[in-house]
Amino acid sequence: MTQKRQYRSLRDAFGQFATGVTVVTALDNKKTPIGLTANSFASVSLEPALVSWCVDKSSTRFEEFSKADYFSISVLTEKQEHLSNLFASRSWDDTVFEDVPWYEGHHGVPQLPDCMARFHCKTEHVYEGGDHLIIVGAVEDYDCDPQTPLLFFHGQYKQVK
Ligand SMILES: Cc1cc2nc3c(=O)[nH]c(=O)nc-3n(C[C@H](O)[C@H](O)[C@H](O)COP(=O)(O)O)c2cc1C
Repeated sequence: MTQKRQYRSLRDAFGQFATGVTVVTALDNKKTPIGLTANSFASVSLEPALVSWCVDKSSTRFEEFSKADYFSISVLTEKQEHLSNLFASRSWDDTVFEDVPWYEGHHGVPQLPDCMARFHCKTEHVYEGGDHLIIVGAVEDYDCDPQTPLLFFHGQYKQVK
C-alpha cells in the first residue's frame, strides 16, 4: 500500500468514530480573536476538571493556539453548521470574526452565542502528538444549554435522528 493510500485508509477508520463539533477560540499575541473548528475535543477529568483537544501542526493557526494561555471550547448545535464551516476555512483570516456575532468572555477570549456548552480553560499541559499537539485545559468555568448537537461522521455532518 502506498503511503497516500495508507493515510486515506487510516483517515477512513478514524472517521468511523462519530463526534460532536466544537469551535476553539482564543486570543493571539496581539489580542486578536482566533478560532478553529475541532472535533478532537474530549472530556478528560472531573477532579480536577480537565478537557483536551488537538491542533494540527500544519494549521495556519498552530503557533497562536499552541501559545495561548487561555481558550474556550464551544460545542455547536445542529443549527450551527455555518460556524463549523467558517472556522474550518483554510488560511486563517482575521476578518472571520467580522462575519459572526461574538462577545468577550473570560480573559477576553471570544465567545460565540447560542452554543450548547462552553468550557473556559487555562492551558495546563501541552503534549507532543505526532503531527498534532495535544492541548489539555483546566476548566475554570463552563456553561451549558442542552440542545440537539451537530455531529461529524465519516467526513460529513450528520443530524441526530
Ligand atoms: C468537523 C471538523 C473537525 C476538525 N477538527 C480539527 C481538530 O480537531 N484539530 C485541528 O487542528 N483541525 C481540525 N479541523 C481542521 C480545521 O478546522 C481547519 O479546517 C484547518 O486547520 C484549515 O487549515 P489552516 O488552519 O491551515 O487554515 C477540523 C475541521 C472540520 C471541518
